[in-house]
Amino acid sequence: MRVEGQHYRTIWPTDDGVAVEIIDQTRLPHEFATVRLENLQDAAVAIKNMLVRGAPLIGATAAYGVALAMSAESSDAALEQACTTLAATRPTAINLRWALARMKDLLLPLASENRAQAAWQEAAAICDEDVKNNRALGEHGSKLIRDKLEAKGEPVNILTHCNAGWLATVDWGTALAPIYTAFDAGIPVHVWVDETRPRNQGASLTAWELQQHGVPHTVIADNTGGHLMQHGMVDMVIVGTDRTTACGDVCNKIGTYLKALAAFDNQIPFYVALPGPTIDWSLDDGVRDIPIEQREAEEVTRIRGRTDEGEIVTVTLTPHGSPAANYAFDVTPARLVTGLITERGVCPASRKGLLGIYPEQAR
Ligand code: MRU
Repeated sequence: MRVEGQHYRTIWPTDDGVAVEIIDQTRLPHEFATVRLENLQDAAVAIKNMLVRGAPLIGATAAYGVALAMSAESSDAALEQACTTLAATRPTAINLRWALARMKDLLLPLASENRAQAAWQEAAAICDEDVKNNRALGEHGSKLIRDKLEAKGEPVNILTHCNAGWLATVDWGTALAPIYTAFDAGIPVHVWVDETRPRNQGASLTAWELQQHGVPHTVIADNTGGHLMQHGMVDMVIVGTDRTTACGDVCNKIGTYLKALAAFDNQIPFYVALPGPTIDWSLDDGVRDIPIEQREAEEVTRIRGRTDEGEIVTVTLTPHGSPAANYAFDVTPARLVTGLITERGVCPASRKGLLGIYPEQAR
């Protein structure tokens, strides 16, 4: 997508072919900066500290992390070590495990001298597939927006949570792909952007990328959505997901579940956009079985922003000594989800619905 008119992906190999470059998302929206990842450790730290984040991008970065590791040493032990290190960075997004399994399955049978080149090629393929999937799901999802416009005859108001835009993927995004596709096709849209405490991915990242693309949007405090829905100001909700089970339970950024409840109560369609690698076919019950990341309390007690003088500062919000809990994700049961928007089409959030478009996954 575009930054100041220039096309970017969120991750790419450097021209010298020995490193990877990423956009440092911890510095947005106030500063656009790229960072060079030179080795396995750099990639692991970038994921853990959320310089890169969003399920598909975490997976792509892990794949390049393996490639960087193989360039340094390509023994079985080094491959094992790389996968273990990267898997330990963040627990919830299934794309991380999916990408590592794919890299390992490909590389392990190869002679060690062939592994580095194969790893770089496979990481690039994972990135290209992500872009292709997101473009396709954007097309499918945009039809839902067009249908709403035809029924309503006025701009379509869409609420989204967290950042499931191009910054969360290699390009295009998941929840925002249908919105970009609709907008580019001339469909009038307006996006309600949940700020998404505690890390503010909505306020900092979604607002920034929508602004870069020229999409009309309004940032709202996290608790505003229910009120807007009661007053007819939301036509549909589209969110992303970090892991969706084979039965259609949706794990996504903390706060998503409350939006789904409010949407259900107000008969507002609640869609989840995801590429195939975000489906965890091994799990059925998301509430019971998906591991929920808990991050540092500091992300809740402190906040970072820019002063009027242009200085980036972090300040404390809470009384000294008050404990804080920081659950990063929650699970929305399938019964609250109107449909899953995938690269293969829109389907019901159920085992039957998913198997209808991914028949090869039938056990
Ligand atoms: O903690 P993050 O920022 O990595 O969380 C990921 C998200 O931004 C969302 O939950 C998103 O909707 C899923 S990724 C497309």
